[in-house]
Amino acid sequence: MVSRRVKDLEYAIRDIAVVAEQVEKSGKKIIHMNIGDPARYDFDTPKYISQALSDSTFSGQNYYVDSLGVRELREEVCKHENEKNSINLEPDDILITAGVTEGIFFILASLLENGNELLIPGPSYPLYINYSRFFDGVPVEYQLEEENDWSPNIEDLRKKITPKTQAILISSPNNPTGVIYDKKSIREILDLAGEHDLIVLSDEIYDQIVFEKEYTCPATLSKDIPLIGLNGFSKAHMATGWRLGYMYFHDPYGKLKELKEGIEKIARSRLCANSNAQFAAIEALKNPGPHTKSMVRKLKERRDYSYKRLRQMEGFHCINAEGTFYLFPRIELEEFKKWKNDKEFVIDLLKYTGVCAVYGSGFGFYGKKHVRFTFLPDLPTLETAYNYLEDFLKKSI
Ligand SMILES: Cc1ncc(COP(=O)(O)O)c(C=O)c1O
Repeated sequence: MVSRRVKDLEYAIRDIAVVAEQVEKSGKKIIHMNIGDPARYDFDTPKYISQALSDSTFSGQNYYVDSLGVRELREEVCKHENEKNSINLEPDDILITAGVTEGIFFILASLLENGNELLIPGPSYPLYINYSRFFDGVPVEYQLEEENDWSPNIEDLRKKITPKTQAILISSPNNPTGVIYDKKSIREILDLAGEHDLIVLSDEIYDQIVFEKEYTCPATLSKDIPLIGLNGFSKAHMATGWRLGYMYFHDPYGKLKELKEGIEKIARSRLCANSNAQFAAIEALKNPGPHTKSMVRKLKERRDYSYKRLRQMEGFHCINAEGTFYLFPRIELEEFKKWKNDKEFVIDLLKYTGVCAVYGSGFGFYGKKHVRFTFLPDLPTLETAYNYLEDFLKKSI
């Protein structure tokens, strides 16, 4: 016997890895383009941060720490966010979590029940869909328009607000499309939240992985709208396995008080986030190194190459990524007639070429007929993967 909650839980990014394992057992070499984990490619966690982690362990800081996070880290995160985004947080506005993932879990556990709705971008990072349902809520997708370079469709969002809506999620830069919301869209979303007395959630995990276009933090524009921001150390500091993130409460008029207390209650019930990683993260924020910028430089080259290759492929339609490390081309399934849907395509691609990507329908309704590739692998690996893919498409048309 297992609960309904767990039965319904799906996570395409990891689910496809299970199929890849079976294919690998049959002797095929897998080219992983499915998981957005820089530390699995040639982006190592910077040495000075790893050293701080090791020092913390060897100096005996191996105990439970404050459930809300180590005070000094909360102070550093607060400074960091205030400087980066010109906002005005206090250390008590910060809660340290085991990655953004745990932050999403805490927020949705505290916010949703009985069919309450969360407005999320479509396509969206799957966790928002899964955890909304997990807590008996309903994820409602507002459209990111592919024809409009994946910009949020504000009219669609407006139409989807109902008396059950609790919050609107902004996810910029967006996984899987790579779009960065422009200032105008953010202002319109904040206005809608104000009009309907909604809170805004802002997933900012890729805020430093941006290319030509300028990134705007929603909290910077949000004078009076209550907003919870989420960020962490997985992507910009290439420390995915450390499981360390945080949320901040931008709450000028105290509207989030009750929700914040609820979230803190859950935080206390799970004792604390990884203590050693917290001590190391203090070092990462106090002495910011060049690692994020050099990662972005390398990624830009890989994105440019990937975009050029994918755009040229017959049967694919690809919009360039403004941030993140993903491209999300559409497969013109009608041209092939071989696959019923994106999942079949991705599994077939994996079986015949070893190239492992994620099927777009795993990112919700608007992700259908798409496929997500990460361009984290180095250029020679990308070249091999795109050669296989091109060949596979040609043979299938
Ligand atoms: C949009 C988004 N939010 C959150 C996460 C999870 O981040 P963390 O490692 O901090 O849990 C990911 C991971 O890929 C992501 O893409």
